[in-house]
Amino acid sequence: MSLIYNIGRLVGIQPEGVLRVEGPEQGRTGTLENAWLRIEDGHIAAFGPMDSVILSGSEESVDARGGMVMPGFCDSHTHVVYAGSRDGEFLDKINGLSYEEIAARGGGILNSADLLHRTSEEELYRQSMTRVQEMMDKGTVALEIKSGYGLNPADELKMLRVIRRIRETVPAAVKSTFLGAHAVGRGYTHEAYVQAVTDMLPEAEKWADFVDVFCDEGFFTVEDTERILRATSLTPKIHANELAVSGGVQVGVRCGALSVDHLERTTEAEIAALKGSATMPTMLPGSSFFLGLPYGRAKDFLKAGLGVALASDYNPGSSPCGDMRFVMAQGCIKMRLTPVEAFNAVTLNSAYAMGLSREYGSVTPGKKAALILTHPGWDLTKLAYQYQTPFIRQIFL
Ligand code: NIG
Ligand code: FE
Repeated sequence: MSLIYNIGRLVGIQPEGVLRVEGPEQGRTGTLENAWLRIEDGHIAAFGPMDSVILSGSEESVDARGGMVMPGFCDSHTHVVYAGSRDGEFLDKINGLSYEEIAARGGGILNSADLLHRTSEEELYRQSMTRVQEMMDKGTVALEIKSGYGLNPADELKMLRVIRRIRETVPAAVKSTFLGAHAVGRGYTHEAYVQAVTDMLPEAEKWADFVDVFCDEGFFTVEDTERILRATSLTPKIHANELAVSGGVQVGVRCGALSVDHLERTTEAEIAALKGSATMPTMLPGSSFFLGLPYGRAKDFLKAGLGVALASDYNPGSSPCGDMRFVMAQGCIKMRLTPVEAFNAVTLNSAYAMGLSREYGSVTPGKKAALILTHPGWDLTKLAYQYQTPFIRQIFL
């Protein structure tokens, strides 16, 4: 048992059973000033105002000294299992080549697949773990990791095993997604590769929680996507509308996707398709920043009554950064979300987008005590505004 007391501001309080927030609700969060919070067996047991605190000598206690306590970040979209780096392509990018042009020259995802093929499983685990550790140090308490740099049965499975091993080693929650359809693997025709991905599904189902397809111009079509999704019992999470208005949102919703991600390019039709669905639109401002793409229209989604999640997309090609606090700040600065809207997007809604919002994403009795204690004087506005100043005093995980 442990007690955190003298909490200046306890934020992210939600009643039990609220699994996501949408529309105007995304702009609100339960807050208690001058509070205490009790942790039992790694779960939030209770919280309340300081004038009701019961201090017992027998329990471990932490004086928050007026710091803010908030739920840790949930990152529902990452590709942190990869080998080496793509810093060689960074200069091409600086010199003006687009993501598609770099990919067409054999760079991009295929470059990462070649590197991964040459890297031992042990080394892949080691390299990936340094990134997961970096994310946890920055306050991420739950994350999703995709395969998709294998692009043949043996190397995809190698990635899924590494993700499993990470899940078994780290205190953060880890969800696993099979993204065989990330790019056409070397030596395959497009058609043969879609068939190969379909054939990999029974094995992938033993390792992954979700299935993903890069449904976008130059990668996989709506027909490919539907064919893959209909062939598996895994719940979809779809890459859609990064490079073009791809139809990926609609096929995702049709196939019961938990989330559709990227959405740098969307029209009213995508918003209409999402309304009334269980699918969480997820935007990845780190990719917009790094690739110079438009930022997702998060505000319009909220106005339409939808919720939005934000995630890092941490990967070597389009977002080499897993800092969810920076993601939150970009949500405010570039997408004009309020600090509370952006906060809900990187906690409760992103937990929902990986099926974890029953256990993570808010301060609710019974949920995991996966919390960040800040230095004194912090609030959600300052978190996004003063976006590079160190703020974490302690992480409870
Ligand atoms: O989410 N868009 C597709 N996949 C990744 C990029 C992967 C890469 O370039 O290595 C993304 O941006
Ligand atoms: Fe991605």
